[in-house]
Amino acid sequence: MFRVLFLIALVPAFAYGNVSRACSGGRPQPTNVVIEGCTAPPCNLVRGQDVIGLIDFTTDRAVTSMTTIATATALGVVTNYPLGSNAITCNFLQGSSCPLSANEDVTYRLTMPILSIYPLVSLSIEIDLIDQNNNSVSCFVVDAQVVTASK
Ligand SMILES: *[C@@H]1O[C@H](CO)[C@@H](O)[C@H](O)[C@H]1NC(C)=O
Ligand SMILES: *[C@@H]1O[C@H](CO)[C@@H](O)[C@H](O)[C@H]1NC(C)=O
Repeated sequence: MFRVLFLIALVPAFAYGNVSRACSGGRPQPTNVVIEGCTAPPCNLVRGQDVIGLIDFTTDRAVTSMTTIATATALGVVTNYPLGSNAITCNFLQGSSCPLSANEDVTYRLTMPILSIYPLVSLSIEIDLIDQNNNSVSCFVVDAQVVTASK
């Protein structure tokens, strides 16, 4: 009984989970990207709430440190999306920690605050995890729209 309920609860996340597309320049792609509450892009980014992403990727080299670079493109304008302390990627790995060796399967939990002042626009967000040499370890793009919380 419990097992059945558990499986039903998990199905949506797996069935519709992978909402990413590739970055430019042939940067390595994650194996899977799940954005909580998003079954298919464009994902709703609710003003005043955090967006939680679970990103699975495999390292292709040894990594001592990583930084998450978020870049938003809206109405043709490209802007850096500040993540603050959430940008210290290695602090948010699940079940592993830095340094990482090559060929490690890693799950990273991304938290992205959506400030109340953000305009209600459609946008694409590029998430690039860069290593100690500023080389991309894993990169993806999610199409999204900023929305207000439903009352
Ligand atoms: C997720 O989507 C990306 C981009 O379309 C694709 O390369 C990758 O293989 C997908 N992963 C899974 C597990 O389907
Ligand atoms: C990485 O990029 C930052 C910011 O652009 C720069 O300050 C730093 O020197 C770069 N590090 C390497 C190893 O290229």
